[in-house]
Amino acid sequence: MSNIRNFSIIAHIDHGKSTIADRLIEHTFTVEKRQMRDQILDSMDIERERGITVKAQTVRLKYKAKDGKDYILNLIDTPGHVDFTYEVSRSLAACEGALLVVDAAQGVEAQTIANAYMAVDQELELVPVLNKIDLPSADPDKVKIEIEEIIGIDAADAILASAKSGLGTEDILEAIIKRIPAPEGSVEEPLKAMIVDSWYDSYLGVIVLIRMVDGQLEAGDKIQFMSNKTERVVDTVGYFLPKPTKTDKLVSGEVGFLTASIKNIREINIGDTITIARRPTVRPFPGFKKVKPVVFCGMYPVESKDYEDLRDALEKLSLNDSSITFEPETSAALGFGFRGGFLGLLHMEIIQERLEREFDLDLVNTAPTVVYRVTKKDGEVVIIDNPAGMPEVGEIELIEEPVIDATVILPEEFVGGIMQLMVARRGMQTNMKYINETRVMLEYKLPLSEVVMDFYDKLKSVSKGYASFDYEFSGYQQGDLVKLDILLNKEKVDALSIIVHKDQAFYKGRDLADKLKEVIHRQMFDIAIQAAVGNKILARTTVKAYRKNVTAKCYGGDISRKRKLLEKQKAGKKRMKNIGNVEVPQEAFMAVLKLG
Ligand code: GTP
Repeated sequence: MSNIRNFSIIAHIDHGKSTIADRLIEHTFTVEKRQMRDQILDSMDIERERGITVKAQTVRLKYKAKDGKDYILNLIDTPGHVDFTYEVSRSLAACEGALLVVDAAQGVEAQTIANAYMAVDQELELVPVLNKIDLPSADPDKVKIEIEEIIGIDAADAILASAKSGLGTEDILEAIIKRIPAPEGSVEEPLKAMIVDSWYDSYLGVIVLIRMVDGQLEAGDKIQFMSNKTERVVDTVGYFLPKPTKTDKLVSGEVGFLTASIKNIREINIGDTITIARRPTVRPFPGFKKVKPVVFCGMYPVESKDYEDLRDALEKLSLNDSSITFEPETSAALGFGFRGGFLGLLHMEIIQERLEREFDLDLVNTAPTVVYRVTKKDGEVVIIDNPAGMPEVGEIELIEEPVIDATVILPEEFVGGIMQLMVARRGMQTNMKYINETRVMLEYKLPLSEVVMDFYDKLKSVSKGYASFDYEFSGYQQGDLVKLDILLNKEKVDALSIIVHKDQAFYKGRDLADKLKEVIHRQMFDIAIQAAVGNKILARTTVKAYRKNVTAKCYGGDISRKRKLLEKQKAGKKRMKNIGNVEVPQEAFMAVLKLG
């Protein structure tokens, strides 16, 4: 086991984690040159296009070190986005150490800190790597000080690297061997393995990524998942090279996978302990967390005949991502659809995009919302993940909403702007600290619902893109909240209701009515738009009827122009829903996200 090293790479988004992984794979000849392509571990199309890592991936590298010995290095790549924090923490639990990659031009950012703290909590050995030193603006000495002051680890021996040119790759490999401890554990002990991840593979069925701690595992073994005591017979065990490759057995200290004719990934709990029923380990892992969705939205097919297709698509997607939840939902306005639950906004957007792209579905999605806890006057506590389901005002004793602890790192010139933004978003500052002469770290308590509403774009524009942001869930807190309804021609549109703070209801109602006026097209009749809380109308506006029929102009005119116009109408129709006799486009459901 002394020749095994299990490590992860952690970094703020875009600091170069995947590119470093590419260099390590290349240097150890794990993938033949001709098969090598950039960001080889990011396998999903969307990951590649957006340049983000969504699912954690694993690869086993063989490395002949300068000491002449052969080593096995198991790299577990981790997702960089805050939505996937739980995957990062599980990946880290499977390692003895981690490369902490920091962009030498940008310095420590919000997710550098969040991920580094997570690694320190798990008592991992951190190896700081300053990447992108090829950039003219790189300032490794300054960044070393930031790492020491903010994260509190020694950065004197930080490795200088350029994943772009390959500089430092060998130093990283040597540091992994010298500085990260070999795994402990014993082959003689009863089987103890941790489930790090699982996903569905169309050839192999459910693949379970495991970290072996004690004992050994081979095909034919009858294993037990300790959380729910289910038993399975192992079909295959193997490694990722990075393609899944069968082997005879896995032994303590190794990272690999098993398959066991498991049909549904929901049977598998990330963080669970695997053992052998007739000789179980006496020390299972302390437990695992069921990841819970925190952001919800309604998803409705534009054509109601596509409802079953949408269900099939959601089922297929959730085969591979047990963190998605969906339940049938009916909306008076939108008909039959589903309420989807996601780990965060990015996760939600990715799923929406995959539904449209991979399954060719036309959807209307409602605005995202968080989960409220409502205590009714009769003592009943209800969980509300859809504003339309909010009890009547008279029935409500109190409403609680999720709040987060947020960290923002930014150049000092933007502090004023961010503070204003945070106040507008009901944030409470809890800390402020200079991380060097020019950059500041701010900490806030903030309702999660305020982050769900177009927060990232605002943060970006206020800081010209220089602020980084990270958060963790902090708990529930009572809020003075009300449901704001929208009425179109006096009809309440359930799918447009939102929950807002009482003090903001008036101007949010007014702004929302104005925004809806911009996106709802003129029709043959006037459309009255009203915003209301309970029976009280807060704002009203009207989309005036057409004066002229636009298509009339084309009759007798140029035929290709006419076709173009018709095509345009057809394309435009796609993401529209008829509510009563009013055509409402997708943008209307997102208008709420654009409120100040
Ligand atoms: P996520 O997976 O989304 O968290 O990002 P990441 O940390 O894996 O970053 P990635 O490897 O995708 O790199 C981000 C960008 O930085 C890409 O455009 C890379 O080409 C670029 N990059 C990575 N390493 C270097 C480097 O050493 N020098 C320069 N100049 N650019 C680099």
